[in-house]
Amino acid sequence: PIENIPVICVDGPTASGKGTLSAEVAEQLGYHLLDSGVLYRLVGLAAEQAGLSTAEPDLKDPAHARRLGELAAGLRVRFEGQKTLFEGRDVTDDLRTESAGMAASRVSSVAEVRQALLGLQHAFRQLPGLVADGRDMGTVIFPDARMKVFLTASAEQRAVRRHKQLISKGIAANIDGLLADLKARDLRDISRTHAPLKAAEDALQLDNSGMDIEQSVQQVLDWWQGRTAFS
Ligand code: DC
Repeated sequence: PIENIPVICVDGPTASGKGTLSAEVAEQLGYHLLDSGVLYRLVGLAAEQAGLSTAEPDLKDPAHARRLGELAAGLRVRFEGQKTLFEGRDVTDDLRTESAGMAASRVSSVAEVRQALLGLQHAFRQLPGLVADGRDMGTVIFPDARMKVFLTASAEQRAVRRHKQLISKGIAANIDGLLADLKARDLRDISRTHAPLKAAEDALQLDNSGMDIEQSVQQVLDWWQGRTAFS
């Protein structure tokens, strides 16, 4: 039965390092990986291509919300290794931009969109196990997960990391602007009505402000070993 397939949830705010941590833990355990943010980013991209607005006032119109839900339900997406193919086209890089992230954050407040993406996310739960990265993995999508981690870091630390990441890709960026964007996104993710960002009650809190990637990965693997040793 599906309940026996282990899931590790990693939830937390934007730029907390969830993506890197989840990918590394999945790799070390030989588990599948769900990057749920990609799905919301895809909906943003698909909306843009379909000429559907993702502007906040439009999202409040029920008919518009329904159309976005239908769009999300019909997403033609394929994952090949690290690549995301949308309608046959490689959109991996398009999805990583700041503007795609902001569009994702906006459409993710639409209940119809969240509902439409449920089945797609559950389908990632396959043997030998899954690491699920997102905002609501432990609270909504996989409430019965064997382990839940809530990853945080200070906003300043996250802005510095994002800045480094962009600079290393040759993209010009300014820390103050990034910090402002990040706080805006945090606020929207935390204060939305449907599946707001919050730690599950049974989540293990990990503040990685003063840790490097290896240390955070090791902490999660240690916790996981502790869990599985007795079950
Ligand atoms: O993790 P990310 O930056 O790729 O996520 C982009 C946006 O998608 C984020 O601001 C909120 C939304 N999101 C969500 O609502 N629920 C998830 N499980 C993952 C992402």
